[in-house]
Amino acid sequence: MRDWSERHRLAGRRVGFVPTMGALHEGHLALVDEARRHSDVVVVSVFVNPLQFDVRADFDRYPRPIDDDLRACADAGVDAVYAPTAAAMYPPGFQTHVEPGPLAERLEGEHRPGHFRGVTTVVAKLFAAVRPHVAVFGQKDAQQLAVVRRMALDLDLGIEIVGMPTVREPDGLALSSRNRRLGPEQRAAAVVVSRALRSIEESLRQGTTDATVLVRRAAEVIDAEPLARLEHVEIVDPDTFEPVHTVDRPSLALAAVWFGEVRLIDNLLLSTG
Ligand code: PAJ
Repeated sequence: MRDWSERHRLAGRRVGFVPTMGALHEGHLALVDEARRHSDVVVVSVFVNPLQFDVRADFDRYPRPIDDDLRACADAGVDAVYAPTAAAMYPPGFQTHVEPGPLAERLEGEHRPGHFRGVTTVVAKLFAAVRPHVAVFGQKDAQQLAVVRRMALDLDLGIEIVGMPTVREPDGLALSSRNRRLGPEQRAAAVVVSRALRSIEESLRQGTTDATVLVRRAAEVIDAEPLARLEHVEIVDPDTFEPVHTVDRPSLALAAVWFGEVRLIDNLLLSTG
């Protein structure tokens, strides 16, 4: 991978990179299009990273349709797919990790212990292999985007980190590789996640700025759906991910909701004024 990238760098081309865990959908492909706008050649990695899964069953059941993924990459004009094995990424003796800071402690970090340490470690390794000038990440995983941005700055990686808005189904459900694990009834029910976040936006527009009230209303929307089990819904500062009490400046509403054994996350940037 590094030799391939080095050749393009020596030829004066900019290398763009989209790291993924595969089971590619239109959301991933939007990142590929964005990467192309920022570079001359685009690399996609497909690697289901064991280090970032806190629940073994979730890792085991993560979809791995590699043939479909390779076809989707070819159709999207991706120049190279990097799909290392877990044994190559984590050979016996592997012991060095990238430790993120307080940004990774709350929300996803709190509910999925060790998750972001797994993400920063694998993204650092993928960056070292691909040597991109620019890497594109989705706002769908807003906290991940912030943690990766911070890492690139803190470790002087010299890689431009670009964020992309969330791609959604027509009914509002954020595209996710995990959506394919939903049964038809769960899939229909999953629309409550984005609907609950929209209800926060709507209440805000009508003048409610108390985050506790806004969050309670969103929780009621989710609780009204029998197939949904709310894990958390919160409103935070989009830079620090610390809780916001009064939504009087741009804030981020985030939710994590379970449908059976499938955990879905979504978020919505709230603008004020
Ligand atoms: P994965 O869940 O496959 O997502 C890969 C990238 O696609 C992430 O940057 C994610 O935010 C983005 N993405 C997912 N759904 C999206 C949507 N509906 N709209 C826009 N972008 C979307 O995130 C990971 O993999 C891993 O943690 C990874 C960064 C690859 C490290 O293992």
